[in-house]
Amino acid sequence: MLKKEHNDLLTQTGPGTPMGRLFRSYWIPALLAEELPENDCPPVRVKLLSERLLALRDTKGRYGLIDEFCAHRGVSLWFGRNEDCGLRCAYHGWKYDVTGQCIDMPAEPETSRFADKITLQSYPLIARGGVLWTYMGPADTQPPPPQWEFVTVPPPQTMTTKRLQESNWLQAMEGGIDSSHVPFLHRSDLNTDPLFRGAKGNTYTLTDTRPVFEVVESPGGLYIGARRNAEDGNYYWRITQWVMPSFTMIPPRGDHAIHGHLWIPIDDENCWTWSYDYHPIRALTDEEVAAIRAGKGIHVKYVPGTYRPFANKDNDYLIDRSAQKAGRTFSGVEGFAMQDASLQESMGPIVDRTKENLGTTDSGIIMARQRLLRAVKALSENGMTPPGVDLAHQKVRSASIILPPDQPFTEAAREVLIARPAVAPASV
Ligand code: FES
Ligand SMILES: [Fe+2]
Repeated sequence: MLKKEHNDLLTQTGPGTPMGRLFRSYWIPALLAEELPENDCPPVRVKLLSERLLALRDTKGRYGLIDEFCAHRGVSLWFGRNEDCGLRCAYHGWKYDVTGQCIDMPAEPETSRFADKITLQSYPLIARGGVLWTYMGPADTQPPPPQWEFVTVPPPQTMTTKRLQESNWLQAMEGGIDSSHVPFLHRSDLNTDPLFRGAKGNTYTLTDTRPVFEVVESPGGLYIGARRNAEDGNYYWRITQWVMPSFTMIPPRGDHAIHGHLWIPIDDENCWTWSYDYHPIRALTDEEVAAIRAGKGIHVKYVPGTYRPFANKDNDYLIDRSAQKAGRTFSGVEGFAMQDASLQESMGPIVDRTKENLGTTDSGIIMARQRLLRAVKALSENGMTPPGVDLAHQKVRSASIILPPDQPFTEAAREVLIARPAVAPASV
């Protein structure tokens, strides 16, 4: 349970809010590189942390993220002409470069210097791993570019998608660190989905539905250990990485790619669920790439021309009651992603955490909230850089591993929880 003031604090990320300031300490994904496919392509509307922005790629291939609205009389620059190294407003022709600087006012007298004084709010936008990242905080605290392993491995080894989620970011993220729902909600998919099936670890997950959780603070966030019984008295450990503010990495299964998410607020009632699949030491196979494109694993099929899932709240997520009754799926909704999203969105746009009743399997969620609240306070009161900004905090890996019963997972798995280039992941 959370007090209302803490629920408000963690779920509100607009300009001027404490949690918004925390999110503005990090490079966050803004859009996919494929959305700006060539120089001088049409600009893309991007709403992030409740700010309405426009992503641009200019004639020289420079990226920028600028205020969506013209400084003259406020029309949307989305209608503008992207030409000759700038975006020209469709109304009276004011033109802006990728930094938001006004560089032309064709209707003003030729001698006018007015344009020099006009600058739109703008943020840097950089390409890493097929994703365009932005940093929306103060220039003097801008960290070096992100170093998550899924964006630093060679391009054939990694693939990222995004989907619109119609809920606040926090309840989406909390679903990502709640490993105990897997043998229920996703029961039917573990052994059939092409990006999950066939791993030995699936058997442990499905046969021991009462995992014991051990959650330990990591430099950037938390190690969330879920322990299940394996053979000969040993334990099967699944260790999820959560790095602040909203990066999660799911423990791998067999030789499958490693999956994970980032949840990024669009506004307080919507977020982007970013989903990546990468393999640390090999290229993704054609079958894996085809499965990701087909919406398998943690990815989805879309409403054509959008990043909204095809199964969404307007069609009740295409729930199939006969499949639910027959046990072909646990909830009647198909696929990991929409099984999760349907339930997370069903809570309402911002779940009321004053009414919840948390159990032992919620310890990861409880500690993540505490860690976020502590970091927000330290940033607001003392300007302290939050965990997860340091590049070393980003070089992490999840793991699945069998350990003897007397070994603490944080000790025995210490080495495999660090991302080392070209080293195979620990996976069962
Ligand atoms: S509103 Fe953009 S130039 Fe006038
Ligand atoms: Fe899930």
